[in-house]
Amino acid sequence: MIHFMTSNKHKYQEAEKILKNHKIEIKWLPEGYEEIQSDTLEEVVTAALKSIDKDQIIIEDAGLFIKALSGFPGVYSRFIEDTIGNEGILNLLKEQDNRKAEFISVIGFKNEKGEELLFKGIVKGEIATKTRGKEGFGYDPIFIPEGEDKTFAEDIGMKNRLSHRKKALEE
Ligand code: IMP
Repeated sequence: MIHFMTSNKHKYQEAEKILKNHKIEIKWLPEGYEEIQSDTLEEVVTAALKSIDKDQIIIEDAGLFIKALSGFPGVYSRFIEDTIGNEGILNLLKEQDNRKAEFISVIGFKNEKGEELLFKGIVKGEIATKTRGKEGFGYDPIFIPEGEDKTFAEDIGMKNRLSHRKKALEE
C-alpha cells in the first residue's frame, strides 16, 4: 500500500480521488516532512525523500508562481499564505494588468525498491481580482485556470480535472 505523507488533509483527499480513477489506492500518513530552504520545489522534495526512512511513500511540494512578481511566492508559498495570505497577494497585484500565474506541484515517490522518482505538474492561469469560493484550500480562492471563469475554490471538480496535483500524480 502506498502512503501519501502530508500534514495537509485537503492534498490527501485530492490525491485519493485522482488516483482512485486510476485504480490506485493510497492511505494518508498525516505527518509533515522536513523542508530544506531551497530555490526549487525539486530540491525540497529530493532532500525530503532522502530523509524519510520508508518505501511506498508519496510526498509533495507545491507552490504558486506569479509572473509579475518574478515567480513569488513560489517556494515560499506556505510562509506567505500563513502571513500576508490571499488578501496580501491581491494587494501586491493591485493595478497590475499582468495577472498570469501558475501552480506547480512536484511529487516525490519512493517505490517498493526504494528508488526515488520525481513527477511535475503545472497548471497555468491568472490571479482573480478578489477571493471567490469556499472549496479547496490555500490560494484556490484567487486562482483561475486558463480557459475557465471560476476559481479553483468555486469548483473543486474542475480543480481536480485541471490541477497541477492531478497532472503530477498522473505522470
Ligand atoms: P506545500 O509546501 O506544498 O504544502 O504548499 C505550499 C503552500 O502553497 C501551501 O501553504 C498552500 O497554501 C499552497 N498550495 C499548495 N497547493 C495548493 C493548491 O492546490 N491550492 C491552493 N494552494 C496550494
